Amino acid sequence: MIEHLDYLSEQKITYLHLMPLLKMPHPYNDGGYAVEDFKQVDPEIGTNEELEKLTKELRKRGISLCLDVVMNHTADTHEWAMRAKRGEQEYMDRYQCYETREIPDQFEKTMPQVFPETAPGNFTWCEEMHRHVLTTFYPYQWDLNYHNPKVFNEMIGNILYLANMGVEVFRIDAVPYIWKELGTNCRNLPQVHSIVRMLRMILEMVCPGVILKGEVVMEPKELPVYFGTEQEPECHMLYGVSSMVNLWAALATRDTRMLKHQMDVIHSLPKNCYFVNYLRCHDDIGWGLDEEQEKKLEIDPIQHKEYLYHFFEGGTYPYSFARGELYNYDPVTKDARSCGTTASLCGIEKGGFEGDLEQVKQGIQRVLMMHAACMSMEGFVMLSSGDEIGQVNDYNYKKNPDTAADSRYLHRSPFQWENAEKRKKPGTVQYAIWNGLKQMEEFRREENCFGETAGISTWDTGNSSVFAIRRTAGREELICLANFSEYGQNAWLNCLEGEYEDLFTGEKLEMNSVWMNPYQYRWCVKK
Ligand code: GLC
Repeated sequence: MIEHLDYLSEQKITYLHLMPLLKMPHPYNDGGYAVEDFKQVDPEIGTNEELEKLTKELRKRGISLCLDVVMNHTADTHEWAMRAKRGEQEYMDRYQCYETREIPDQFEKTMPQVFPETAPGNFTWCEEMHRHVLTTFYPYQWDLNYHNPKVFNEMIGNILYLANMGVEVFRIDAVPYIWKELGTNCRNLPQVHSIVRMLRMILEMVCPGVILKGEVVMEPKELPVYFGTEQEPECHMLYGVSSMVNLWAALATRDTRMLKHQMDVIHSLPKNCYFVNYLRCHDDIGWGLDEEQEKKLEIDPIQHKEYLYHFFEGGTYPYSFARGELYNYDPVTKDARSCGTTASLCGIEKGGFEGDLEQVKQGIQRVLMMHAACMSMEGFVMLSSGDEIGQVNDYNYKKNPDTAADSRYLHRSPFQWENAEKRKKPGTVQYAIWNGLKQMEEFRREENCFGETAGISTWDTGNSSVFAIRRTAGREELICLANFSEYGQNAWLNCLEGEYEDLFTGEKLEMNSVWMNPYQYRWCVKK
């Protein structure tokens, strides 16, 4: 890792989130999200000394390290689980274990499933313990019992231990699930907020430089409460999950109305709500769209969702440029999520496979447009490693029995260093994407309108395929436009008078009528 830091610095990265690297069981560990020891680096990955050395090197380069804190569960091979299996009451009490099915059955009545296909049900029978254990995620991930205060105290100890090693950002994994109560859906309960609030207070006292990033993959209306209030804050930042989902939905439908609405919701939130914007991460894309808004726009939520996951599955689906896979298809609810890398979902893989250069070129344009739209939004931008060189899906996970059932491994392939070299070679996909992103990142650093205090709002373009964000800083003004369609489109941004200049093309434009080429993005500064 340390040997590769120049590659990160070349991208001027300031934040690095490494996937879980703490001690985990092998081979089944849910990508490291089943933790066996919260204070030890997995020996297959490295040592604690190496982690400390890495955090020091990163800090010299102005990069903050982010690690996951898996609060909701431990691996069933964690010391506590092992001792619980041996019948030690002290440790059984740290999980939610039941002798009969009575309570588990009551829970199942109201508790939805997270992995209905890959890990159905919310309880697992443990033969050694003769108990049913609550396992919201995989059967080998035992949910912790936060009703027992020892659990919270111990977990705080683990977090501070990692902070002492130089970890500056904690991604609190699966936060909404940490508190369970019979008769509820066991998500987003008020006690969850008390726990996050306590965590924030403790960090502020002990290591105030540390940042909490919440992983709250929930409906838009559930998100703002995770920031707490200005007086009683909880998370410093959250994943902009809904923005991400709406970006992909707009790409498939060529319709940005839902995306615009989502942005309007974000812009109406208090200033303490700070989102991490991203296109892809290690997880699937779950199609949690705002149903009320869909209905207002006369979009059928179920049909819309089915269209989206089939579209991104690609294959023979009509007019799809994407190559991806379904994730956790639930035949009962007809719910499914989507997997794939940005490049594959945007058409580069299909074009490459069919040897069609025009398709590849359009795929690149689509990728860059998606990044440009994402970077125009309010918040912090996170890039998924590999996206900067247009890494495509990797189907090798199917050959490995440990990963074959989990299609998220489609976009979790090892980083391709040989392809990264091609970023220096004009004419390659890697060169085009790398340089396209670099240009956007430079403008983002230079322009005041991208600064922290910028005023941000959406703008009506009179064309549902063209998305617009207006940013202002004092008298400066910048209009970010993105055409989500493969056809040329005209945008009409009335009431914006005067002359603007497109930072990318240098063209002089009037905003009341702007021509946009297929998948073109423009960032226009007012002259
Ligand atoms: C989070 C992680 C995901 C993992 C789950 C269970 O959602 O992002 O990868 O499977 O938590 O820990």
